[in-house]
Amino acid sequence: MPKNALLKIDEMEVTLPVMTGSEGEKAVDARKLRQDTGYIFYDQGYGNTGSCESTITYLDGDNGILRHRGYPIEQLAEHSEFVETAYLIIHGELPTPEQRKNFGQLLRQHAHIETQMQKLFEGFPKEAPAMVMLSSLVGSLAAFYPQLATNNFERDLQQFDLAAAIAISKIRTLGALVYRHKHGLPFLHPKDVPFCDNFLHLMFSEPYQDYAAIPEVTRALNLILLMHADHEQNCSTSTTRMVGSSGANLFSSLSAAIGALSGPLHGGANVAVMQMLQSIHDEHDDGTRFIQAAKDGTKSHRLMGFGHAVYRNFDPRAKLVGKACDIVLTKLGKSDPLLAIAKNLEQAALKDDYFISRKLYPNVDFYSGIIFRALGIPTEMFTVMFAIGRSPGWIANWKEVASNSKGRIYRPRQLYVGPVKRDYVPMAKRG
Ligand code: SDX
Repeated sequence: MPKNALLKIDEMEVTLPVMTGSEGEKAVDARKLRQDTGYIFYDQGYGNTGSCESTITYLDGDNGILRHRGYPIEQLAEHSEFVETAYLIIHGELPTPEQRKNFGQLLRQHAHIETQMQKLFEGFPKEAPAMVMLSSLVGSLAAFYPQLATNNFERDLQQFDLAAAIAISKIRTLGALVYRHKHGLPFLHPKDVPFCDNFLHLMFSEPYQDYAAIPEVTRALNLILLMHADHEQNCSTSTTRMVGSSGANLFSSLSAAIGALSGPLHGGANVAVMQMLQSIHDEHDDGTRFIQAAKDGTKSHRLMGFGHAVYRNFDPRAKLVGKACDIVLTKLGKSDPLLAIAKNLEQAALKDDYFISRKLYPNVDFYSGIIFRALGIPTEMFTVMFAIGRSPGWIANWKEVASNSKGRIYRPRQLYVGPVKRDYVPMAKRG
């Protein structure tokens, strides 16, 4: 195992330490590179750059491995549920029965949204995008819970467990209320029921007619949220760390993360997948024509839900969600023509050299929309579902930043390629 890397630039030679992760990943420690050489590394999009050491999630993109605190996603999908996995991701260990009970109670205790905070909804046009509203509302938690959001790590960490529970529970409730606001439905009070049952109640109950969640539906919702719980240093999680590294409180960091997740290349992909499948269906295409267009490489015809910045193999979550699609639709006695199209696209792409050569496989977003739709969740809410699921991962990463006594503010460098020094030109001499 190399201890050092030798960097030779012309006559200059520097030795850089090599770091090794607990799964054998190797890194060249570049923290002294600029000081020792005057050079920086250039790595657009940070695809080859580690911004932190983390103990939360391990991803092996080449072998399609995903583990949370060492537990394989396949085992968590089979044996765990969203709230238990959220506890694991945030606190580092599976909860004891007592810890699980207390955590669940804390989430129920903070499921409501105060009347004062509900007034914020009045300012949002109903047509406002759900994720824009959610980002603003989550950021406002820092206004309603200032004692948990002091922008002082030491003080905020003392209240972390409460702030974390409030964040997870309120993001769920705010997500449901955004839906009701957009549809002009009255807001409901949460019930003293488990996390996913409460979400479905807050979304779909009528003022005098409670939504009756069947076990298959809450089980499917638990699975799909668990599948989204954390994913290493993805765009929105890195955003959480970037914002938190300035000392910003948890709620402000989560608000920024929601903004990052809303993009179509990230969490917005599950909406883009459904729009893609629907347009293929509307054009009476079984996917064959679309695949051909996707291979042209034009961004407008990307095979949404395919490809990944890290996985160069199957996204293990896509396999699990894809399997759950069949089970959920069968249990609910539903069929979805878009599922057949999705399967056609997957089969065709997995045999096509364009996708094989670029190592493009289905990612978590490819099938998730089918399940959300089967659960009655409208497309406009899919990325909100992703945010509800990802909240534990963001929270755990914020805590790592806040707890790192040797931590530094995230401040990447750049390569300046703009105009060199020039003198000011008075207005009279311009044009
Ligand atoms: C998520 O980071 C995470 O972990 C994210 C996530 C999480 O849990 O947080 O896993 C969730 O965001 C999943 C990804 C959801 N996004 C999509 O499904 C959008 C469609 N996929 C792509 O836009 C793309 O694959 C990305 C953005 C996901 C990854 O982009 P990369 O790694 O920067 O790949 P690239 O854009 O450099 O493309 C490499 C090549 C290009 O072709 P060439 O220039 O080599 O000819 O592959 C092509 C691209 O044109 N390509 C695709 C494609 N994705 C990449 N061609 C057709 N369809 C696609 N989907």
